[in-house]
Amino acid sequence: MSNFFTEFFASYGRFLVFIHIVSAVIWIGGMIVVKFVVAPSVAKIQDVKLRLSRTLEIMQRLLNFAMLFMILLAITGTFMSLGVDFKHSSPSLYILVHIKEAVWTLMALNFIYIYRKRNSAERQFVSGDDEGAAESIFTISKYLLPLNIFLGFVAIYFGVILRGL
Ligand code: HEM
Repeated sequence: MSNFFTEFFASYGRFLVFIHIVSAVIWIGGMIVVKFVVAPSVAKIQDVKLRLSRTLEIMQRLLNFAMLFMILLAITGTFMSLGVDFKHSSPSLYILVHIKEAVWTLMALNFIYIYRKRNSAERQFVSGDDEGAAESIFTISKYLLPLNIFLGFVAIYFGVILRGL
């Protein structure tokens, strides 16, 4: 089996690394743009209902879009780590691969939590509980998105080390 991954990496390694990096750029970049560019602008909308509905829609679009790239990161990361065969070639870096898997898992769990919190914010909004919806959105924007952005930076940094730099 490891032979398959080694051969696959030898043939398509460049493509795998490319998809892996592009997925990281889109996932983390998307969250950064929403947090630091889109959200401050939407926050200026005076009409509360309009502001909440725009925010909920932007978040839904971001989450649906990012989901594919989150999955691609795990698939390409797994193919790369098995293809390079860190387990035998460099046991110390192999530990880092496991740490990256753990970081990805934390990010994915946080992502699922954000997804559910957004959905509950939408339910609150539809039932007329604007304050509750605003509070849920605040938690996502203030704590959960920055946490995933931070974890993303950690994963990218570990990726650079895995490259051998
Ligand atoms: C299951 C989770 C993951 C695994 C197993 C994994 C594995 C790897 C491996 C093995 C490399 C080195 C490739 C090589 O040198 O041939 C790498 C590079 C990289 N990883 Fe991951 N990764 C994972 C998740 C992530 C996440 C969540 C991010 C960012 C959001 C990320 C960003 C990067 C980047 C940017 C590089 C390239 C660094 C460079 O070229 O200098 N990875 N990853």
